[in-house]
Amino acid sequence: MRAVVKENEGIGAVLKDVEKPVLNEGEVLVKVKAAAICGTDQHIYVWNTWAQNNNIKLPTILGHECSAEVVEVGPGVKGLKPGDYVACETHIPCGECYQCKNGEQHICGNLKLFGIHTNGCYAEYAKIPAICAVKIPESINPNVGAVLEPLGTAVRANVEVQSSGKNVAVIGCGPIGLMAVGAAKAFGAASIYAIDINDYRLGIAKEMGATEIINSSLDKAGEKLVELTNGVGVDAFIDASGNTAAILEGFRGLRKGGKVALIGLPSRPLEIDLGSQVVFKEATIIGIHGRRMFETWTTMSNLLDKGLLNIDPVITHVLKLEEFEKGFEIAQNGMGGKIILVP
Ligand SMILES: NC(=O)c1ccc[n+]([C@@H]2O[C@H](COP(=O)([O-])OP(=O)(O)OC[C@H]3O[C@@H](n4cnc5c(N)ncnc54)[C@H](O)[C@@H]3O)[C@@H](O)[C@H]2O)c1
Ligand SMILES: [Zn+2]
Ligand SMILES: [Zn+2]
Repeated sequence: MRAVVKENEGIGAVLKDVEKPVLNEGEVLVKVKAAAICGTDQHIYVWNTWAQNNNIKLPTILGHECSAEVVEVGPGVKGLKPGDYVACETHIPCGECYQCKNGEQHICGNLKLFGIHTNGCYAEYAKIPAICAVKIPESINPNVGAVLEPLGTAVRANVEVQSSGKNVAVIGCGPIGLMAVGAAKAFGAASIYAIDINDYRLGIAKEMGATEIINSSLDKAGEKLVELTNGVGVDAFIDASGNTAAILEGFRGLRKGGKVALIGLPSRPLEIDLGSQVVFKEATIIGIHGRRMFETWTTMSNLLDKGLLNIDPVITHVLKLEEFEKGFEIAQNGMGGKIILVP
């Protein structure tokens, strides 16, 4: 089969013929319908310090976000059969640790990541533990199915901050932030303030349902949020920028008693005045690492299936698998939303 393989350290990857995966106990073989490029794939593609320090074994097949059809099930697999339409959950839980035994397998203590610690889905076929092949409604088209993994992160952030009827800010309008704007809209947020420094992406935020866009290179986002909420501050903010200065602006714009969902991964520690910004504010802060397995999947499948959430504006490019280099180039220069690769 054809696959995009990261062969060695250094920038780039190659498209080549490799053996089709052989199934072990509890695994399924899927035929990939569509795959998507994520920030993590970019880290591995360019082999930056994050990639070097994350226990990634080369050579490896890139890619972890995809929609697919089950074509074969391994020994012991129940509940999945050839022909099932699925999307891949990246978090591979051990099933044995404290978190797994206490209803939090998405943050398993021995967590492995599909397409990062295993061969991935930029290929015609991929194998994945059966638990990570999630059945999805046929009404979800394969390109949308390919981005359910990041969409789930965005949906879950909105669930955690309870955005229904609230004034919510989304910081960072990359693919995840844009999907968080769409999810806030779907949940019936009263106002959605989208913040970024990239006007192209702020334009897409508007299409996704932002009530107001704020270019934080021109305006102080915190002050602007307070002004837009009649001096009160927003009920919640979701950070999908990973930028420490932007996160601090979010806290400045947060009302007393407000909620914070953190998705972005800052590259350096954040220095914050906990007294004024968290303690006296009684702020609730939650970190979001992916989707709850599988409540978040159910919620987002329902929203998409019933037409309550439309993420089409975030999918800006659909390319053939062999055009992966072009895809990574667009992703790298920030002039795309979600980029799809079709094998
Ligand atoms: N927690 C998780 O489970 C999880 C999963 C995947 C990705 N992530 C992280 O989530 C974040 C978002 O992912 P993405 O793929 O959308 O990333 P991205 O890099 O495409 O988007 C980040 C956005 O933040 C904007 N930004 C940067 N500095 C800013 C500032 N000072 N003010 C306002 N906006 C600013 C950028 O212009 C960009 O549009 C990343 O940090 C990524 O590493 C987390
Ligand atoms: Zn991803
Ligand atoms: Zn575990």
